[in-house]
Amino acid sequence: MSLADCHITQLPKIADPRGNLTFVEGHRHLPFDIKRVYYLYDVPGGAERGGHAHKELRELIIAMSGSFDVLLDDGKEKRSFHLNRSYYGLYVCPLVWRELNNFSSGSVCLVLASELYSETDYYRDYQQFLTALPQVR
Ligand code: TYD
Repeated sequence: MSLADCHITQLPKIADPRGNLTFVEGHRHLPFDIKRVYYLYDVPGGAERGGHAHKELRELIIAMSGSFDVLLDDGKEKRSFHLNRSYYGLYVCPLVWRELNNFSSGSVCLVLASELYSETDYYRDYQQFLTALPQVR
């Protein structure tokens, strides 16, 4: 449950002159069953999303349209990922702080999540996240 476990994964792409097709299957293209899907859209220029870590939740983040950056931070290391293709997903494991920014105009961020929404699964304060890490990791 550190940055080393987070990675970009390439999803299947069925190229077709009528338009390309990509699909995602739980436990095949990501290491969990998909319990929830949410998406960010109409993000104004300069806005930032995220700014939290999860205790249990695992996610796959996909730039369905346009592009944005995801900054991951496990308390020891930080790494930035630029997402700009709908056939790449960024797997984010628990106990990793994430910030999303640099959204291009019209971009859509799709998130496939391993759990239903639960506010108790969030660390929303960065200092509290850092303080909790030695006990929970
Ligand atoms: P949040 O997870 O903080 O958004 P982001 O990390 O993308 O900036 O969620 C923003 C608000 O939306 C917060 O009040 C919780 C609510 N929310 C739900 O009710 N259900 C969900 O599935 C998600 C992701 C958020």
